[in-house]
Amino acid sequence: MGNPLLLILGAVLALVSAARAGDVSPLVTRTWNGTTYACKTYYDDPVWQDTRKWKALNSSVEGNLLVDIPPGAVCHSTFQGPLGNISTYNAAKCANVTSSFADEQWNIEQPAAALWTYFSGDACRPTTDPTEPCKLGNYPVYVIMAKKASHIKTGILFAKQFGMRLVIRNTGHDFIGRSTGWGSLVINTHSFQDVTFTDSCSGPGDYQGRAVTIGAGVQARDLLRKAHAQNPPLTVVVGECPTVGVAGGLSGGGGHGPLTTLKGWTVDNVLEFTVLTADGEYLTVNSEENSDLFWALRGGGPGTYAVVLSATYKTHVDLPSSGIILNINSTHTNDTELFWKGVTAFHKYSNHFVDKGLYVYYVIGMFGMHLNVQPFVAFGKNSTELAAIVKPLYDDLHALSLKYDAVIKDYPTFFDLYIDMFEDEQAGNSALSGGWMFPHEDIANNNNDIVAGLRNVFESGGFVIGHMWNAGSGIPSSRWNDTSTNPRFRYASDSVITSLAIAGDAPEAERLAAQQKLTYVFDEPLRMAAPHGAAYVNENDPFQPNWQEHFWGENYPRLASIKKKYDPEGVFYAVSTPGTEDWVQIESGTRLCKRGDTPL
Ligand SMILES: Cc1cc2nc3c(=O)[nH]c(=O)nc-3n(C[C@H](O)[C@H](O)[C@H](O)COP(=O)(O)OP(=O)(O)OC[C@H]3O[C@@H](n4cnc5c(N)ncnc54)[C@H](O)[C@@H]3O)c2cc1C
Ligand SMILES: *[C@@H]1O[C@H](CO)[C@@H](O)[C@H](O)[C@H]1NC(C)=O
Ligand SMILES: *[C@@H]1O[C@H](CO)[C@@H](O)[C@H](O)[C@H]1NC(C)=O
Ligand SMILES: *[C@@H]1O[C@H](CO)[C@@H](O)[C@H](O)[C@H]1NC(C)=O
Ligand SMILES: *[C@@H]1O[C@H](CO)[C@@H](O)[C@H](O)[C@H]1NC(C)=O
Ligand SMILES: *[C@@H]1O[C@H](CO)[C@@H](O)[C@H](O)[C@H]1NC(C)=O
Ligand SMILES: *[C@@H]1O[C@H](CO)[C@@H](O)[C@H](O)[C@H]1NC(C)=O
Ligand SMILES: *[C@@H]1O[C@H](CO)[C@@H](O)[C@H](O)[C@H]1NC(C)=O
Ligand SMILES: *[C@@H]1O[C@H](CO)[C@@H](O)[C@H](O)[C@H]1NC(C)=O
Repeated sequence: MGNPLLLILGAVLALVSAARAGDVSPLVTRTWNGTTYACKTYYDDPVWQDTRKWKALNSSVEGNLLVDIPPGAVCHSTFQGPLGNISTYNAAKCANVTSSFADEQWNIEQPAAALWTYFSGDACRPTTDPTEPCKLGNYPVYVIMAKKASHIKTGILFAKQFGMRLVIRNTGHDFIGRSTGWGSLVINTHSFQDVTFTDSCSGPGDYQGRAVTIGAGVQARDLLRKAHAQNPPLTVVVGECPTVGVAGGLSGGGGHGPLTTLKGWTVDNVLEFTVLTADGEYLTVNSEENSDLFWALRGGGPGTYAVVLSATYKTHVDLPSSGIILNINSTHTNDTELFWKGVTAFHKYSNHFVDKGLYVYYVIGMFGMHLNVQPFVAFGKNSTELAAIVKPLYDDLHALSLKYDAVIKDYPTFFDLYIDMFEDEQAGNSALSGGWMFPHEDIANNNNDIVAGLRNVFESGGFVIGHMWNAGSGIPSSRWNDTSTNPRFRYASDSVITSLAIAGDAPEAERLAAQQKLTYVFDEPLRMAAPHGAAYVNENDPFQPNWQEHFWGENYPRLASIKKKYDPEGVFYAVSTPGTEDWVQIESGTRLCKRGDTPL
């Protein structure tokens, strides 16, 4: 027997610390592989099994809570979800889902579908064999289809109180799976579709002029269509992809697009956000109110600091524009060396193109050995002017005796170009994505090694999507630090995505090998060839070494402290965003936990 006094003292201390832990954090202590963690709560924890809580939540959100069933479930006889088995087979619906599965807009309108499926775990794809198992994978257990700010607030406070993993989902475009999460509660913001233009926005800050305020769910093409209908026709700095959201993840990462070379990042154009914080507090955020949060929300990482309800952007008068689509592929040559000489010539001009105000979107190697530039964009320039800018490239291709096809067109506005030359992409693909940004200096000094790196990606089984733009040329340097994006992007010339296809349900060893290949075989040579480059958080490898520095450079420490100020408990979590160093997904990438058993 021990000393009774000490035993009593020990029991009292245990009670006190349990009470304190209860006050501070609802996280659950778990041990995995010999280490102790404080974990978010999940379906097998008592707090989840109290069905009254979920009923109460559902009534607080006015019946907009649903149990998430992956869309592919209608092709399987049974959905084996965490809340039990459900019979799901429906032949007609299965035919519909099968034919819609690659459609971006269809996926966007599902409550929780990820357009890039790898990080969803791909545990329930459409199939012709209904006996195949259908599981939830990394999709959420519950979804709040928020219709009002109060629904979002209720969801945040519920997740916070009970220690649940909370994920904000807008369109589901995220390449890295940041809009889904194993065992989570998702808040879907896609219903927030208001768009309001104003002719005379003035203050906060020194801006006077036209602006537009949009809800969190508005997508690029819809916004540009409404801007085009104004008099005069207006435009906004959005991404190249017509279906990506604008105020959600795009702005959270910074947002580059066809106008970036002339008008900066999407977030260089933000005047104000309204948000709900991790405490469920409604805030107006601009250069005067909550200005630290304003800075962080402009490129400091998606889904990290607060839920954005609306955002106000500067608009620009739309202008006549021109574009070129250029192809070099097996129609033109089967000579591998000649093809790569052509790519080298093209890439050498990335500084020239952006210095002349262009934006250039291109793909290498998605369908065999091909270069598809679609398009070169010249905002406010006609085809004569654009042709003159691109002429040195054509001269080089002629000198190489390399054939190519190019189509050049004039458009009455940039909007007409955007609708004609940019295309919706396909959903339902499973891949890892990485990449790197090549700045002016490295293009000037080391273009051959950079192109060798791109060739290596292709020859190692991947493909490349490039975006030539410079976020520094269109806005004065005195404004560069107004956003929290990596300052190195102010010298950008080309930012590429590298992509490696891998099945979403691949065994763990295969996954690890693919991740290693992406980080070290594909991307490491690119980082070496362009040591002054950076990485764009929305289109990159979250598992690369030094992601903090690559994504945010010298802005990282301040971002981490703003995260701590506005969300000290980690109510919001998105992989490899500021302040997430202590969080890990244990048990084969499932439960989200903090290292150490003392919560916070
Ligand atoms: C086909 C394709 C083309 C792309 N083209 C471009 C491009 O031209 N330029 C560019 O910059 N990027 C581009 N991207 C990347 C894009 O910026 C990211 O995928 C971005 O995260 C998408 O944001 P979303 O809100 O539409 O998507 P979601 O996947 O729904 O959300 C992405 C992230 O944002 C968070 N989030 C969403 N809504 C909110 C909100 N209201 N408040 C707080 N956090 C929120 C989510 O939690 C998640 O972390 C492209 C992606 C794809 C798949
Ligand atoms: C478990 O811990 C051991 C020892 O620390 C470590 O070597 C191993 O990689 C860990 N396993 C996993 C799956 O993390
Ligand atoms: C929430 O309530 C609505 C309306 O009553 C109902 O249709 C829905 O199934 C409920 N959700 C859950 C998860 O019970
Ligand atoms: C759910 O269905 C699967 C496959 O039919 C079966 O193996 C499992 O035991 C079932 N689980 C429950 C809880 O009924
Ligand atoms: C799928 O069903 C929806 C709703 O019933 C319908 O609008 C759509 O056209 C169908 N799509 C296909 C490809 O069959
Ligand atoms: C390249 O090879 C393909 C397939 O053999 C052939 O169809 C094509 O004509 C070839 N291209 C050239 C330029 O010879
Ligand atoms: C383009 O603009 C220039 C003047 O900037 C003009 O000389 C030229 O004719 C125009 N070309 C077309 C095709 O409109
Ligand atoms: C090859 O180029 C031609 C134009 O010359 C284009 O029509 C075709 O789609 C291209 N093929 C690929 C695979 O890019
Ligand atoms: C922007 O910040 C960097 C360091 O973070 C600093 O070197 C630079 O001078 C700042 N620029 C302006 C215009 O304030």
